[in-house]
Amino acid sequence: MVVAIAGAHGKIAMQLIALLQAHGEQAIGLIRNPEHADDVGREGATPVVCDLERAAVDELADAIAGADAAVFAAGAGPGSGAARKLTMDRDGAIKLLDAARASRVRRYLIVSSVGAENPPGDDDVFSVYLRAKAEADRAVMASDRDWTIVRPGRLTDEPGAGRVRIDTAPFSGRVPREDVAAVLARLLQDPRAPHRLLYVNGGSQPIERALEEILAEPASR
Ligand SMILES: NC(=O)c1ccc[n+]([C@@H]2O[C@H](COP(=O)([O-])OP(=O)(O)OC[C@H]3O[C@@H](n4cnc5c(N)ncnc54)[C@H](OP(=O)(O)O)[C@@H]3O)[C@@H](O)[C@H]2O)c1
Repeated sequence: MVVAIAGAHGKIAMQLIALLQAHGEQAIGLIRNPEHADDVGREGATPVVCDLERAAVDELADAIAGADAAVFAAGAGPGSGAARKLTMDRDGAIKLLDAARASRVRRYLIVSSVGAENPPGDDDVFSVYLRAKAEADRAVMASDRDWTIVRPGRLTDEPGAGRVRIDTAPFSGRVPREDVAAVLARLLQDPRAPHRLLYVNGGSQPIERALEEILAEPASR
């Protein structure tokens, strides 16, 4: 399997690349800063410089051509203002979706966020972020790709606990990025993962068991 990852130098993405590498899968790591190429390459991905806010859809489509799955793990980040929540978190995710369609990349996974199910309507930057995530997710769900949406709560840099709670109904919490990466890696391998929107946080179930239970339920279509 070849997995194209947008935001490849990000914290979840780097751990996902390492897991894919350990499983013998290939990764294309999309980065915007050429200085990140060595880090991404060392983790095991083929780095491709492509700024999601600047690239045209066909440029991005060329960058991910031949992949089996596209993963949106990018984000404007905590220091960014409202404008980049729209150009990056919303439009970047949708551009990757359009590129996946253009390049016939079947699977599309997005790291969204809890709160996107009911984002506030005010001008607070975090509210704009949640609305951006919500709009991107709506486009993903309306698409003809084999999509999966993962909505974690507060991400932490603690070591992965290997234990999570996964639900189709919204719930808040916190979760190590390492555990989110492990969930993504497992979802990429599973033919039952498409057409699901999953909330993920730290919990008491081993990742494998939590996923087995949720993936045994029928998908949304
Ligand atoms: N923080 C939280 O608690 C939280 C909670 C729920 C969900 N999330 C979501 O989880 C996802 C992953 O989070 P994370 O903390 O692992 O991410 P991260 O470490 O902040 O990494 C984000 C990556 O996106 C890249 N990026 C930004 N703008 C870009 C552009 N125009 N083109 C290409 N790449 C670009 C960044 O590259 P540069 O280094 O070049 O900027 C960075 O490598 C994000 O979508 C985030 O919104 C976060």
